[in-house]
Amino acid sequence: MSSGSPFSSHIVGVGGYLPERILSNDELSTMVETSDEWIRERTGIRQRHIIAKDQHTSDLATEAAKQALDDAGLTIDDIDAIIVATTTPDLIFPSTASIVQYKLGGKDFPAWDIQAVCSGFVYGLAQVDGMIRGGMFERILLIGAESMSRILDWQDRLTCVLFGDGAGAVVLEARASDAPNGVIGSVLHCDGSYRHLLMAQHSYSGSVPGEDPTDFQLDSAGVAAIEMKGNEVFRVAVTKLGEVVGEALERYGVEQSEIDWLVPHQANIRILKATAKKLKMNQNQMVVTVNHHANTSAASVPLALNHIYREGKLKQGQLLLLEAFASGFAWGANLVRWSKG
Ligand code: UT7
Repeated sequence: MSSGSPFSSHIVGVGGYLPERILSNDELSTMVETSDEWIRERTGIRQRHIIAKDQHTSDLATEAAKQALDDAGLTIDDIDAIIVATTTPDLIFPSTASIVQYKLGGKDFPAWDIQAVCSGFVYGLAQVDGMIRGGMFERILLIGAESMSRILDWQDRLTCVLFGDGAGAVVLEARASDAPNGVIGSVLHCDGSYRHLLMAQHSYSGSVPGEDPTDFQLDSAGVAAIEMKGNEVFRVAVTKLGEVVGEALERYGVEQSEIDWLVPHQANIRILKATAKKLKMNQNQMVVTVNHHANTSAASVPLALNHIYREGKLKQGQLLLLEAFASGFAWGANLVRWSKG
């Protein structure tokens, strides 16, 4: 499908950051009634990274952004806009993107957040691609960053075992649309009738895990924490992701067999495998990072991208299918033909 635009958008820099503190399944099982075996078998998760007490989502985002800028051989002065996809902003306002802009030493160009929870990066990539094709910006820094540990009830084993903190970033650049490769297109969906199945009510707990596992206790009444009907989310996620990847292939005239890499949201290894199976993809074409850092929400797709990129596995001209499913429910997919060396 041709957009008729003189421009196309290309990923020219990739970065990622995970906070230092690692919380293993075994350590978690001293805090809630769970086990390493249960968590690994049901989710594929082995550990998660937890933000330090004195860090904020913007700090994780800034580190990932610095790496993406370095990777692109650019500085913040080369950037025209920053978008941060996050569901755990530093503050209700101003935007985390404006704080990241400040921390990176940028000034005067636009910066804003988007909220599509775990699908934030996939939504963001669609938005950036549209703006670059429209000729509005030449280079955009797109970041997915989360401190999910701050909105968890660390006494609820149904949710606290599933999430972690981190950030991933890409720099997207406009090139002439006859340049080969780049972002091909995106498919996005949302169905708000499912909104009650996965949510966090307003206001943060403010609780931050420390070295002592008992620090995870929530200490105030009425705090926000993730509430989830896991089974129902799982069932709809598998169905909708199967549909959306099929829809993306059909819309952009791509055959299943042409996909080189599935770069999925990292929520549960069983969901990843179901989507790979639907695409008849070999399991080693599916990027798996959920074992290392659990579900990092909007950071998860760019962290997965960063992972295979850093392993030197991405080759020019390869076709990537990015996908995510999130609270809302909001879900989507992007097709990208890799154009970076
Ligand atoms: O990123 C946004 C999207 N989020 C997701 O995609 C998450 C989707 N959901 C899931 O990944 C899975 O539903 C979970 C991992 C959350 C749960 O796995 P499940 O296979 O659906 O387990 P379940 O909820 O059916 O629970 C099975 C059993 C229950 O015990 P009984 O009733 O069979 O005695 C649970 O109480 O496992 C129990 N259980 C646990 N046991 C040990 C639930 N959580 C735990 C736990 N440790 N952490």
